[in-house]
Amino acid sequence: MSEQVTERSDMWSNSYIFVLAAAGSAVGLGNIWKFPYIAGENGGGAFVLVYLICIAVIGIPVMASEIMLGKLGRASPIQALLNLTRKHNRSTNWSIVGYMGVVTGFLILSFYAVIAGWVCYYIVRLFSGEFTGADANAVGEAFGAFLADPMQVLLWFSIFMVITIFFVARGVTRGLELCVRYSMPAVFVLLLILIGYGIHAGGFIESMAFLFTPDFSSLSPQAILIALGHAFFTLSLGMGAIMAYGAYVPQDVSVGTTTFTIAILDTVLALLAGLAIFAIVFAYGLVPGAGPGLLFETVPIAFGNLPGGALFGGLFFLLVALAALTSAISISEPVIAYVSERSRLTRAQIAVIIGVVCWVLGVGSVLSFNVWSDVKLAFFEWTFFDSLDKLTQLVLLPLGGMLIALIVGHVLPKAVVYEELGLIREKAQQSWSYIVGYVTPIAVFAVFIIEAIREIQAHL
Ligand code: TRP
Repeated sequence: MSEQVTERSDMWSNSYIFVLAAAGSAVGLGNIWKFPYIAGENGGGAFVLVYLICIAVIGIPVMASEIMLGKLGRASPIQALLNLTRKHNRSTNWSIVGYMGVVTGFLILSFYAVIAGWVCYYIVRLFSGEFTGADANAVGEAFGAFLADPMQVLLWFSIFMVITIFFVARGVTRGLELCVRYSMPAVFVLLLILIGYGIHAGGFIESMAFLFTPDFSSLSPQAILIALGHAFFTLSLGMGAIMAYGAYVPQDVSVGTTTFTIAILDTVLALLAGLAIFAIVFAYGLVPGAGPGLLFETVPIAFGNLPGGALFGGLFFLLVALAALTSAISISEPVIAYVSERSRLTRAQIAVIIGVVCWVLGVGSVLSFNVWSDVKLAFFEWTFFDSLDKLTQLVLLPLGGMLIALIVGHVLPKAVVYEELGLIREKAQQSWSYIVGYVTPIAVFAVFIIEAIREIQAHL
């Protein structure tokens, strides 16, 4: 056991690499694909404000908690929670969060890779110059035609899945650092170029107004739960991904600094993506609530009309695919870590098993956009893709996050937590305990209750 501990804690050779890897996990499709389209569907400003509050009040404490639990437990999330609860004589039932995370990971990865497959196809499409000079209509139709073809969507999903499994099999650190170090600043620059295009095309002011002028009359209770769930999704929280990375962290890493750095970076990238995309939406008179296709129906218009757009557009989607890859790798880490502790299977074998399970599940999401688009879950009217997306984002991740906050706030001895966080002043200790022990879990619980009441009322 002690041998394993040293091996693990060595994996990120310094704190900088850990921050890069965690940022690579956080920044992904959640920022560039999902945030803009759900902000559009939920009316913009008020939703964005609630999302920012969720990041601050819920996301940040839960991220600090996850890194801390990983660091203290030094194992896969399940094993880390078992280790910690045993060590401090608490109920080992709390490790249920770890098991939930494993299941959640399979579900998320299966549909995440489908969308990442769309991105991969768009790398090729943009580089080929197909969108040069294209108008909004042509771009929209091109996307519709792609989605309508299940074999094509299946092909690109499979390609992304194979690439992910390849990297997962080789181990988390290799390549991840390089990828994040260069692609993250590059994504940032390309988003600025897109925003520049928006300013030129004339949609930028409206985009700013849409995202930053809250209109609370348009905010439904469900939008609050969506914002809350997205805060977990975009920061990779609630299923043990960050906890699993935290298990490899060098002892001297500051939980607080790391958490704030990642949360700020992640939020800035999401807001920039939103600004860029809605500028295109308003410049071309498109609808903000276009749904999951929003990214693919807007960004190609801008690159199609920019000099060198085929090159930069291809590059943009390539960078988004890399961001999705570093996120996908992290989603599989809790499972990989757990199964390698419990069995003699090699990392590569486990990776292939994960790949097969996710591929089979993913076929359901592939078909949700064409052949099975009318097959819907009774009551909610969700396709297969919607069901996985909502079950994970609206239920499993917030529930996991709430339990994680409760573990750190009430199950672990306070002294251990304060020491790990380096909290010395009594005021600081009290505020932390109050936030993670009460504010965070109660906020999640309250949103659950409000939403449940609304659902029941709506269906009576
Ligand atoms: N945060 C990533 C994104 O925004 C997705 C992701 C990676 C994730 N690991 C996760 C989501 C763990 C939930 C849980 O694209």
